[in-house]
Amino acid sequence: MQAHQIIQLPKINDPRGNLSFFQNQDQIPFDIKRTYWIYDVPGGEVRGGHAFKTQQEFIICLSGSMDVVLHDGKEEFRYTLKRSYYGLYVPPMIWRSMDNFSTNALALIVSDSLFTEGDYIRDFQTYQHLVQQVN
Ligand code: TYD
Repeated sequence: MQAHQIIQLPKINDPRGNLSFFQNQDQIPFDIKRTYWIYDVPGGEVRGGHAFKTQQEFIICLSGSMDVVLHDGKEEFRYTLKRSYYGLYVPPMIWRSMDNFSTNALALIVSDSLFTEGDYIRDFQTYQHLVQQVN
């Protein structure tokens, strides 16, 4: 499993408008099973606040800007996403939240799993306890 990291996506510059893409296993290290997006976030709101036991995700801010805050149980990492040709790979067992959304921010998230509530860890203390057992 790879560490959390920013992945730069291809950018086809074109005077008619630019184009970026990713596809299974070429730009991201998993096959996509689910796509969802977050939008219409009121100013100052925070999304997320959980970790996944097994699920991997890749987060792109298609429009506007936002911060993804990761915590590995010891340290916090803040990634600002503001270009649609960069995405953040998030492996399993990382606590993540999203804040600092700009007006009209649009976040696209692809996952290697179907939605499974049982894969969520929604309590930070429980997460810290579990992540210490894994490491
Ligand atoms: P959640 O993942 O907790 O949102 P966030 O991490 O952005 O705060 O999901 C919010 C609600 O939406 C929760 O009730 C579960 C539901 N949901 C689905 O039904 N399918 C999905 O693919 C996702 C991501 C969420």
